[in-house]
Amino acid sequence: MSPPIDVGTLLEDERTAADRAETSEEIKQVAASATGKKSRLAQASRQLASLEPDERRAVGQQLHQARRQIEELLERRRNEIGAAELEHELVEDSADLSEFIPGSLRAPRALGHLHLVTLTRRVLEDVFVGMGFEVAEGPEIETDWYNFGALNIPPAHPARTMYDTFYLDLGDPETTLLRTHTSPVQIHLMEEAVLDGSLPIHAVMPGRCYRRDAPDARHLPVFHQIEGLVVDAGITFADLAGTIETFTTAYFGPAIHSRLRPAYFPFTEPSAEFEVTCTICLGEGCRTCSQTGWIELGGCGMVDPAVFGAVGIDTDHWSGFAFGFGIDRCAQMRHNVADVRSFVENDIRFLGQF
Ligand code: DAH
Repeated sequence: MSPPIDVGTLLEDERTAADRAETSEEIKQVAASATGKKSRLAQASRQLASLEPDERRAVGQQLHQARRQIEELLERRRNEIGAAELEHELVEDSADLSEFIPGSLRAPRALGHLHLVTLTRRVLEDVFVGMGFEVAEGPEIETDWYNFGALNIPPAHPARTMYDTFYLDLGDPETTLLRTHTSPVQIHLMEEAVLDGSLPIHAVMPGRCYRRDAPDARHLPVFHQIEGLVVDAGITFADLAGTIETFTTAYFGPAIHSRLRPAYFPFTEPSAEFEVTCTICLGEGCRTCSQTGWIELGGCGMVDPAVFGAVGIDTDHWSGFAFGFGIDRCAQMRHNVADVRSFVENDIRFLGQF
């Protein structure tokens, strides 16, 4: 007797049904009708009982094998559907994180950048950090003591006329002020170093300063300086001259050099003005440098013993030098800016060039 059903046709039918299923719900239904109680396979199995024992075994084996094959093909299709559904879900759920700014394709937005004076300050800091200096800052509002007294400029000292000062309406008259230079930061640093025993000092101190000057091509009432201070054992004037020259060539390039000329500052002894090769004529002589080939950049000198005395530094063990010069002036020289007032007029055509 032949099997109650044609196993080949059965397999073919179930494979077709499984391949048609597109979703996990559909494959579940196909599986139920292929292997469930009402399936053709189950019906055929029920008819086994009416067969002769020999036949029953042979047909039974065929049906058993058919069931395994059907289960395998269902399983394969189930996996295919599962993978496709997962893939679909991932695509559906993914968020588009790319930003579209309306209009940005037509008019790209112009990016701003730091102000030339800030850029210059950063380059100066980098040069000095490269030479082994640390960068420090101090307050813009000072007492008379820090801005003048501790720097060996007592009241009524003629040097005060160099600094036309903005005083604040705070405390006794003329006791608090907007610092006229960055030199008072030297005093703060030395006081701190004495307090926590952290001498030596190798620091530069950039910052904003104020003087009651009428604005002109070379002066602004609010301007920027960078101060330098070295306090160490055995520091000499040669260290100062070498430091100034190293800085000059590092910042302005190998064609620009420095020279020191005798000068007077109350807080240094001896004192000097330092000049650098005129960046316009490279030393030939021109109108900018009054035919000298040199441009004055700042002041410097060996820290005066009176200043060390004011902060309690023992001059038997320590000596030092200091210098200070204008950041705005550096920016002017390096970028050939004729008039410092351009820095504060906020004309984007000027500022955008740097
Ligand atoms: N503070 C001075 C000024 O603004 C510049 C200066 C001169 C600073 C000599 C120094 C120095 O540290 O040693 O005019």
